[in-house]
Order: sequence, then structure tokens, then C-alpha cells
Amino acid sequence: MTVSSAVARLIAEYQRFSSITMNELFAKDSNRAEQYNIEFENLIYDYSKNKFDEDVLRALFALAEEHHLKERIEDMFIGKKINVTENRAVLHTALRNFSNDSIYVDNKDIMPEIRKVRAKMKEFSSAVRNGIFRGYTGKKLVNIVNICIGGSDLGPYMVTSALKKYWAPDMKCYFISNIDGTACAEVLNEINPEETLFIVASKTFTTIETLTNARTCREWLVKALGEQAVAKHFVALSTNAKAVAEFGIDTKNMFEFWDFVGGRYSLWSAIGLSIALMVGYENFEDLLKGAAAMDQHFRTAPLDKNIPVIMALIGIWYNDYENIHRYAVIPYDQYLKFFPSYLQQLDMESNGKSVRLDNKKITDYATGPALFGGAGTDVQHSFFQLLHQGTEAVPVDFIIPANSHNEIGQHHQILLANVLAQAEALMRGKTTDEVAAELRAAGKDELTIEQLKLNKSFAGNRPSNMFVIDKLTPYNLGMLIAMYEHKVYVQGVIWEIDSFDQWGVELGKQMALKILPEITDGNIAQHDGSTTRLIRKIREMRGLK
Ligand code: F6P
Repeated sequence: MTVSSAVARLIAEYQRFSSITMNELFAKDSNRAEQYNIEFENLIYDYSKNKFDEDVLRALFALAEEHHLKERIEDMFIGKKINVTENRAVLHTALRNFSNDSIYVDNKDIMPEIRKVRAKMKEFSSAVRNGIFRGYTGKKLVNIVNICIGGSDLGPYMVTSALKKYWAPDMKCYFISNIDGTACAEVLNEINPEETLFIVASKTFTTIETLTNARTCREWLVKALGEQAVAKHFVALSTNAKAVAEFGIDTKNMFEFWDFVGGRYSLWSAIGLSIALMVGYENFEDLLKGAAAMDQHFRTAPLDKNIPVIMALIGIWYNDYENIHRYAVIPYDQYLKFFPSYLQQLDMESNGKSVRLDNKKITDYATGPALFGGAGTDVQHSFFQLLHQGTEAVPVDFIIPANSHNEIGQHHQILLANVLAQAEALMRGKTTDEVAAELRAAGKDELTIEQLKLNKSFAGNRPSNMFVIDKLTPYNLGMLIAMYEHKVYVQGVIWEIDSFDQWGVELGKQMALKILPEITDGNIAQHDGSTTRLIRKIREMRGLK
């Protein structure tokens, strides 16, 4: 196999570096924390607790240059059709562009349309919040029910949860995504139709889950208030006006977006209407402005001062050279508890690919890692055992605000102490000698010490990034999300894949459509033996012959 010069350099670096530990690097270089640290606006990114030295880092930047990363970043911002398999530009960054610059797609400036939809969102969200736009019977709309799935769901769901402190006090927000009827039933049980606004959010407006849930909610509303009420209680967010009209929502009540906005990159578009409704348009705009600040940083900062680039390259180092294909994101903030699920789609739907941009199958390297996570400190009491003592290292991103929205007693200080302790413990570890000395001091006999010392020791040398923000504000949240979006893109560039398509979700959808009538009417077509038997058995359990 022939490899490029940057790859050859990285292979050599990997061999040279494999016996060096992070503890040694810190011991040798008192300036390491200062050097491998970027402060950008209200964000501190400390990447010093990672397994690299200056030579490794330089080799990673050489790899980025070999892939013309700077040009590829610019390609995205100027609207080149970098989503090649769908022949689309990728311009979620245009949605948060507040400059007067024009951005062209197919020779058309897209900014006037974007500004128009933003203005419509501002007007509508203010009208609902102020009680100017009311329900059919004249009641204020205080329940916002989002019917959506995937990218149309996870972004707004995560952001509205993260910004709960900014919600209008009289309003509540619900999300119905799963086709499981329970999702619908549990929400409809809680709300009063007269006070409810349904938002049907679907880029394509063809997604079976969303349309089925929307139909059920529409029937429920019509049953309670009559057909005339639909216009006052249903709005649609979509790129597909025709399908919206066919569904029975007046396109006057539709907020448009465009095919240069990918589903998982759409919370900045009309898909963010629920965010604007819950936290107010000004706060929604702050979210966009935080993302815009990160866009500017990503576009202009040199590679070695560029936060998303460094995050991405360190991830490449672990994935491609250390052979670690797992990755955890742990926000130490209860409001960010859904952030890992959101990132799961962003990262895994974007970079879970095995065909290159040159249309060749990838056979000799791995692409996107499996991402998981949850809120600290909760997860310290679940999967952290594996992070500390499992047989393979899992690189971790820790995220923590220095100040809490809920400063109660010592809670936040304890939270802060925990996140710092976890990162330090993962790196530092604990030797068997240290364990033995501790046990001896506690009066344990030598046999017990012998039996326990390995089990109680920690290998250490486990890497992590630390992100500290001053507080979880809409602006800072916008910065954080955009930072991960760009990290994902950089990795896609290095792996030479299309990070913006998602063909991998299609096969299961097709097959479900085939199986659906078989479950209903029992005419089971050709499947593997297991699937056929399961359909038969499930029909029996449902009392069907
Ligand atoms: O499941 C795949 C997917 O296409 C996602 O990429 C997308 O975010 C989601 O389905 C929902 O699609 P839509 O917004 O078109 O309903």
C-alpha cells in the first residue's frame, strides 16, 4: 500500500510516540497547559491532556494541508456543492450570517430569502408569545408540540432543553418523534387542544414517522375543535411546499428552508421555530450569533489556532493511528443532558461512511467513531468504570460552564470539582505501588493488599479535551454546536468522504414499508427464515391468524 508523505510521517510518529505518556509530557514541560490551550470569546479549550507532542501535532497539520483543508473550508462557506452525492451546497453557515455579504447558490443570492424567513419567524414567534396570534377559540397558545424526527427533532429538542432557563414562564414544549403510538398518546393526554400549537417539522415532508404522528394529532384536534381550527393550530416547517399543501396545512402557515440545509444542520433554519417560540426570537438570534462567531473563527484562524481543526485532528490521531473507534462526550450540565444524543446524529450520520468521494470503497482505514455520552456526574456512576479501567481507552470531551444558572449551596462547586477530577484521574491513573501504600496505611494485611492492588489501580494515560464556558447562554450554546459541526466536517475532509449525505438510512425504511402490510394482512413474502418466523409469531401474539 502506498501512503502519502504526511501519513508516512504520522506512522513514524506513532511508533516513536507509543511509549511516551502524558504524565511524562507534563513533567517535562511546565508550559504544556499554556501552550495547548485556546481561549476564544467565553470558551476555553484545553487540549493539553491528549496523547501528542509538538512533532505529532505538526505531522497532523501536515496531513490537513495535504488534504487542502483551508480550501475545503472555504468551499463550504462559499456554497460549492460539497455534498456531491446529492449535488448540493452545504450552507447552514449562511443561516447564521448576519453580515451584508451575499452568498450564491446556482448564481442566486440566497441571503434575501434567509432574511425573509428569519423576519417571519420573528413576527410569528412574538405574536404567539404575546398572545396576538391565538387559537381557534381565542385562547393563548401555550403548548408547543413539535412533530418531527432525526435532524428536525434532535437539534430543537436539545436546544430548547438546554435553554429551559430562558423559556417564557407560561409556555411548555413537547416533542413527538417516535412512531411508537406511546409518544403521541402521552403528549396528547397532557394538553388542551385549545391552547396547543402543533409544528410539523420535516425537511422532506415525506418521513413516515412525522406524517403519521402529524395525522394523528390533526385528527385529535379536528375531533375536539373542528376542521376550521387547523389553520390556527398547525404550522409546517419544510422545504416541500407541495407536500405540505397536500397534507392539509395552508402554505401561508409554512416556514420554508432549502435543500442546502441538511436535516442534522437545520436547527438554525425555520426548524428552530420551536426554539424561538420558547426562548424568544432575540435569544434565538443570540444562538445564531454564537454559531456565527465560531464560523468566523473556523474560517479565518490558522490551523494551529483553530479549535474545530485541532479537535478533529486529535480525533483522527486516535481513530486512524491509535485504532480507537469510540468517543465519549460528557457535559457536566444538566441542561445539556441531550447534547450527546444530538451529537450522535451529527457525527455518526455525517461520518459513518465507507465510500470515498472518488467513489471507491474504503478498505484500509476506519471512518467515524461510535459516539456516546451523558450528563456528568450521573454517568460517573454508570459507564465511567469502563473509561477508567476497561481494556481500551476512550477519548472524552468534557464540557462545563464555570457558572450555573442554579447556584444552590455547594452544588456547582462539587460539579466543577468532579469534572476536573475525572479528567485528571483518567490521565494520571494510580500505580499498584500507590494502591499498596494506601492499603497499608489503612491497616490492611499483605495478602489482602496483594489481592486488591491490581484491581484498585488505574493505568491512566487516557486522553480528554476540556471545554469551559462562562455560562450556558444561547450565544455560548451556538458556539459549542457550531464547533462540533465544523469538527465533523474537518474529519470528513481527511477521510475523503461526503459528510452531508445519509444513504445508510434508506434500506431499513424501504424494507419496513414492505413488511408493514405483511404484519397487517399476513401475506408474508420472501424473507430470511428468521424474519418470516418473527412476523408470524408477532401476528400470533397480536391475536391474528
Ligand atoms: O433518518 C434520516 C433522516 O433523513 C435524517 O437525516 C433527517 O434528519 C431525518 O431523517 C428526518 O427527515 P425529515 O426532516 O425530512 O423528516
